Amino acid sequence: MHIPPMIRKSMSTRVPATHSQAMDQDQRLRWLRERDDVALEPLWAQADAVRRATVGDAVHLRGLIEVGNVCVRACTYCGISVHNHKVGRYRMTRDDILDCARRAVTLGFGTAVLQGGEDPGLSRELISDCIRAIKAETPLAVTLSLGERARGDLEAWHAAGADRYLLRFETSNRELFARIHPPPPGRRASVDRIQLLRDLAAMGYQAGSGVMVGIPGQTYTDLARDLEVFAELDLDMIGIGPWIPHPETPMVRDLAESAAPGEQARNDAMDTLKMVALARLAVPDANLPATTALATLDKDQGRELALTRGANVIMPNLTPPKYRALYELYPDKACVNETAEECDGCLRGRVARIGRVIGVGHGTARKNSRREVAGSRSRGVDCDDDANCDGCEPTEKSRRTMEQPWTAK
Ligand code: 5AD
Ligand code: FES
Repeated sequence: MHIPPMIRKSMSTRVPATHSQAMDQDQRLRWLRERDDVALEPLWAQADAVRRATVGDAVHLRGLIEVGNVCVRACTYCGISVHNHKVGRYRMTRDDILDCARRAVTLGFGTAVLQGGEDPGLSRELISDCIRAIKAETPLAVTLSLGERARGDLEAWHAAGADRYLLRFETSNRELFARIHPPPPGRRASVDRIQLLRDLAAMGYQAGSGVMVGIPGQTYTDLARDLEVFAELDLDMIGIGPWIPHPETPMVRDLAESAAPGEQARNDAMDTLKMVALARLAVPDANLPATTALATLDKDQGRELALTRGANVIMPNLTPPKYRALYELYPDKACVNETAEECDGCLRGRVARIGRVIGVGHGTARKNSRREVAGSRSRGVDCDDDANCDGCEPTEKSRRTMEQPWTAK
């Protein structure tokens, strides 16, 4: 079996995992400014050891359904923002979305992620209806990633059965955040996403967030602060990817706003991987995806490098081929031309080649196992998270699921 030397190295270096990874900001900054591959090896090894000790060798697959690319917002980095008139727009129907969720089950995934632009057409009713149908028909956990929505929408979707919500805060630097996120239509100020993440957790969601690395004007000090915020929010999931310039967005002209050389974070694989490793140390039991943006920068090894430097989740794309290319957050996105089956096969091969196994069940962050059971029961549904759940006896439905793999209806 051929394993590239860089990856073999981080697989074989054993460093004892300590759970009190209280790294101070100076140490984080030193790692973030380090550019020497050899000097970085202890960081990679430590992140891999902590990953193994906390979330184990399972790599969880979350099926990504890009439900629509209509968006009313003007984020300056995003290829589907309202200002891009060159992209054709789509919104999937309830039936399209349910078909994708069924495919997630057939492919053995534990979670469906419904992601889309900030689109009033993805109405409270439509999304609630989809969540209820997925929950009734399948054993999937449901994650939503639909932007900054009204509290009423978020509450309704949680009541309908949604388990998790992903909203990256992109950068903890408020000034930079405001510059790249013009306020919603009709509002004067940008939304405080960090507060919104606290609200989501209080509503009962497992909250996921993350940042882009290498935004013009983003410094290493900003990244160190992002890590602190990940820990303060005690996030369940943390997605970290490089900023990839999209030619139809204003941010490509922001390079003049870059911070001083040596302080400006780079939108490259090395700086992104440092953030993945440091996030693993900052929030040891979080779920960390090997992101598609990183795989886009390094198509050969991006996912493997992330998985051996702290990550434990992959999000294979389930969006129907006719829509995939239209969900163009950034150019040349990895996996755009593969079918769901091809992508799934490729990813399973990548996981196996680095000596890891595919996770079963929901793959809930460990701290949430009990919360999930309590939440599911209070909504009158079963929990079947056999991989992580240490808080319950298997229920009738989960026993059936374990004994008899679910097949698409
Ligand atoms: N480069 C990298 N990541 C991007 N995203 C959006 N546009 C880009 C881009 N040009 C990321 C943001 C967003 C997530 C859904 O995709 O972090 O939160
Ligand atoms: Fe999608 Fe390889 S990771 S095709």
